[in-house]
Amino acid sequence: MDFSQVLARRRMVRNYTDQSVADDALDRIASSALRAPSAGNSQAIGVVVVTDTQVRHHIARVADEEGYVKAGFDPWISGAPAHIVISVSETVYRDRYSEPDKLGPDGQVIEWPIPYWWIDAGAALMAVLLTAVDEGLAAGFLGVHSVPDLANTIRLPDDHTPIGVVTIGHPAPDRRSGSLDRPRKTKGSVIHRDHWDDDG
Ligand SMILES: Cc1cc2nc3c(=O)[nH]c(=O)nc-3n(C[C@H](O)[C@H](O)[C@H](O)COP(=O)(O)O)c2cc1C
Repeated sequence: MDFSQVLARRRMVRNYTDQSVADDALDRIASSALRAPSAGNSQAIGVVVVTDTQVRHHIARVADEEGYVKAGFDPWISGAPAHIVISVSETVYRDRYSEPDKLGPDGQVIEWPIPYWWIDAGAALMAVLLTAVDEGLAAGFLGVHSVPDLANTIRLPDDHTPIGVVTIGHPAPDRRSGSLDRPRKTKGSVIHRDHWDDDG
């Protein structure tokens, strides 16, 4: 699929058919996270691919699928044949940025004006979402309020924090999110030239 088509087709899908996802497709989707950039080449993300029914149902409980269903959505978390959980280790970044080539101009460890670990996890997330579309599949993403419960469910190491759950499957008709009442912004209101307040 053309890259521009992949980008245009990507949307969060919140319902899937019963059809399972082929292992090789799932492997390509998960592996795309390794192509994401990372600050200092820290490469501190983890990817847990979940297809086991019990684990998916456990994740659905932790993610309050019941709340979605009460709100009129399909049981799209337990119903997705595969989940991918991306996690990241802040510790690895702190260690990497203690190395000589990463110290600030004053010779000290930088004060992290921007926590790069979240940026990198987001970049990995986008790679996964787009690769799912490229595979002819659909994906969704949900934040999980109880981060420790999610981490425990998939037995992450102590230094890893999961950023949420990607659901993957073959798309079925789904209920649109209320957030989509917010129209996509126009180019002119988002993209600026030279200065925010210059006309483009
Ligand atoms: C960081 C992040 C967290 C999100 N959390 C949730 C969530 O918990 N539940 C959900 O249904 N959608 C969630 N979404 C999906 C957004 O609602 C969705 O991306 C947005 O409405 C735009 O729709 P689209 O991605 O289909 O274009 C999240 C998206 C992002 C990027």
